[in-house]
This record gives sequence, structure tokens and C-alpha cells, in this order.
Amino acid sequence: MERTIRPLVIGNWKMNPQTAVMAERIAREVKGGLTANTDADVVVAPPNLYMSVVHKVRNGSNRFILGAQDAFYEKLGAHTGNVSAFMLESFGVAFAIIGHSERRALGETDDVVNKKVHAVLKAGMTVVVCVGEAERDVNAQYLEEIEQQIRKACAGVTRARLRNVVIAYEPVWAIGSGKTPTPEDVHEMRLFIQKIFADLYGRSAVGQVRILYGGSVSPKNAGELFTEGGVHGFLVGGASIRPADFIGIIKACTSV
Ligand code: PGA
Repeated sequence: MERTIRPLVIGNWKMNPQTAVMAERIAREVKGGLTANTDADVVVAPPNLYMSVVHKVRNGSNRFILGAQDAFYEKLGAHTGNVSAFMLESFGVAFAIIGHSERRALGETDDVVNKKVHAVLKAGMTVVVCVGEAERDVNAQYLEEIEQQIRKACAGVTRARLRNVVIAYEPVWAIGSGKTPTPEDVHEMRLFIQKIFADLYGRSAVGQVRILYGGSVSPKNAGELFTEGGVHGFLVGGASIRPADFIGIIKACTSV
């Protein structure tokens, strides 16, 4: 397959590691593993508490981009415990992951996801919208589930903003489980997601939206999922805090 879109690999550190010193070490090792030949956009999304540590390690490098694991939709004010998209953007964060299944499991609704998507885009960042089925049923009801998640998350997003929209397809059953869909299943899902965007915005919109796969990505399965799955990159959880593994995944996307 001819590739016209630069691969995108995002490390979602989730609620790890335990200390800022460890965060700094991971960030340094990841940065150190990237070379002038790394032909991919690499994003690291640490817990907000470590954002300044990772920012310092980054030191303006354009090979290493800052991401957030969430962003609140209000700009400022009485919202205890939240950090807004505007605050993140002013700090130098360029990507925000929205609607991760671990947040949806805590009660984040499609409506809240949609508000956050708009806030992230308005702040001038790229939004990474996570979608994924809880399980695969034989009647393929899960396709409807994915379609609804995408339609609701992107409701009201204009065609012009699509360049800053990334969809991360993360089957919930694959996250942290060591199980993955087959590359053929991933390929089919990529086409299905592109068809949704074609229906919503017209065929020319299809090339605008990057589609990632996430869920138990490792240096071992990344090559196959990337080439045969035909995705534009990965959203990586567990392996992203193991620098050698994360670099291995990045290399699997850039050596094709
Ligand atoms: P995992 O997580 O790579 O540990 O399965 C992926 C994710 O939740 O984004």
C-alpha cells in the first residue's frame, strides 16, 4: 500500500510511572531512541503531573510531541480537578486523547466526549478520539457501536477541522489483555471508519483523518498490524513506558 500520511505513534502512559524521576528517565530514553531517520510523529502523553518534566526533556524537539490523556471542555473556573484544553495548549501540548475506554468506564458519556472534542479543536490541538467495542458479536452489532461512537464524538465538527482529528480504534477486549484482532480485522475496521467519514463529509474527507489501532500493541505485532492492518499508526499503552519496546513499535511503522 502506498503511504502518503506520516505515521503517528502515541504513547499513553496512563497513571504511570510512580515518580517524576522515573518519568524523566523514560522520556529521556524515548527521546534518545529517536533519530533523524525516524519518519513518524511521536507523541508522549504522561500524567499531567509529569507534563513539565517531559516538557523539559523534550526541550523544543520537533521529533517528540507532547500529548495529554484528557482535556476538560470549560476554559477556566470552578472545575475542581480538571485541566482545560486551553491550559494544555498554552503549555505546549499539541495532542489530547479523548474518550479513552478507561474514562468511558468511569462514566464519561458520548455527550461529554463531544464537548471535549470541540474544546480540543477550538484550542488548536489535535484530538485523538478513542472508539472501540466491548466485545465482538457474531451479528456484527459492534460495527453499529463503533459508528455511533464516531458520529456522536464528531457531531458538529466541520470538514475544515478534520485535519486535526485522529481516530484511535481500540477494542476494549484488546486493551492490556495481550489479545489483538487479526491484521485483517484491523484493516476491515479501518475501511469501515473511513466509510463513516465518507458518508459524513464526502469522499475527499477520507484522507484527512488518521486512523490508529490501539490495544496490546508490541514490537512483535506492530509490523504486521501496520502493514496488513493499513492503519496510520498506533496508540500504545503498556509498551509506551518501556522505552525499548516503544522505540521498537515506532521503528516497525517507519521501516516499511
Ligand atoms: P495497551 O493500552 O497498549 O496497554 O493495551 C492501549 C490503550 O489503552 O491505549
